[in-house]
Amino acid sequence: MSATLPTFPWDTLSAATAQARAHAGGLVDLSVGTPVDPVAPVIRDALVAGSAAPGYPTTAGRPELRASAEHALRRRYGVTGLAPDAVLPAIGTKELIAWLPTLLGLGPDDVVVVPELAYPTYDVGARLAGAQVLRADSLTQLGPQTPALIYLNSPSNPTGKVLGVDHLRKVVGWARERGVLVASDECYLGLGWDERPVSVLHPSVCDGDHTGLLAIHSLSKTSSLAGYRAGFVAGDPAVVAELLAVRKHAGMMMPTPVQVAMVAALDDDEHEREQRERYARRRDALLPAVRAAGLRVDDSEAGLYIWATRGEPCRDTVDWFARLGILVAPGEFYGPRGAEHVRIALTATDDAIAAAVDRLS
Ligand SMILES: Cc1ncc(COP(=O)(O)O)c(C=O)c1O
Repeated sequence: MSATLPTFPWDTLSAATAQARAHAGGLVDLSVGTPVDPVAPVIRDALVAGSAAPGYPTTAGRPELRASAEHALRRRYGVTGLAPDAVLPAIGTKELIAWLPTLLGLGPDDVVVVPELAYPTYDVGARLAGAQVLRADSLTQLGPQTPALIYLNSPSNPTGKVLGVDHLRKVVGWARERGVLVASDECYLGLGWDERPVSVLHPSVCDGDHTGLLAIHSLSKTSSLAGYRAGFVAGDPAVVAELLAVRKHAGMMMPTPVQVAMVAALDDDEHEREQRERYARRRDALLPAVRAAGLRVDDSEAGLYIWATRGEPCRDTVDWFARLGILVAPGEFYGPRGAEHVRIALTATDDAIAAAVDRLS
């Protein structure tokens, strides 16, 4: 099975990692994008409070978890008309994305559309199901074929590009006419800088009708819960019910303490705001330094990454950064169109970001 999957991309960075690590000031890792700020006390306390429960959790999640997810989507992103049972917890959204085509019963006759520059797991999930993958950013690239599933990701990993309401409406309308499922990965929705990202479930996009739509939400970045594995999918109640029916059989249950912690995270907007402000400060420091070092920054209006180029093969740029003791991700990880870009993550401590700024100047 693993032979049908691409080389695990991060395994190819060992030489650049070794070079960056050899820098006298030590390694500044801006590659994977793993959160570094401690989990907020309100969430950790809830984790402890939930840790005595002896029984099996349900796959559907506790009613209060589904309700908290619905409330958070309404409060933070203006999503209306979502029923709590149209929410399903995921053991981190990577798990959900990797298995979504399989859970939906897709196979060799089905096409999954992923953005031209995309989080690699969309492609992996399609391959695990044996489905075909088509990289496209516009509907005209699809021609006459009708895919089974279209992924959207705004703000984008890796580019930070935001899809406007008009674009989202066009995709939703096109997909509805053809019975195509739209899965909108909204992992970075809360991290808008120069643009305000909008959920596919927002009434301005879907007119309050969630048919054929899924929004995928991760708490890894907005609440620094990457280690807890906490996310959820919400949207079309019939599709969510179908996913639940299959996931129940497959044992895809979120541990009870994580469910309790997730309720606390979804109910508390204060820590989420503080985390956003931390990333905003790091971006304000790093973005001008990247530009001043001669790179061109493209898109990058939202999300956790700076998408930049020196107009050369991306591995050369990775090496250029590695000589400064900074590790960044080559754009080719995310699709052929990334061949001359690198992705620079904002997920480092304030001290590490200051060191990167210093070295770039
Ligand atoms: C676009 C996107 N979607 C989903 C994920 C998965 O996040 P998690 O599995 O931590 O919820 C990531 C992680 O980096 C991501 O960048």
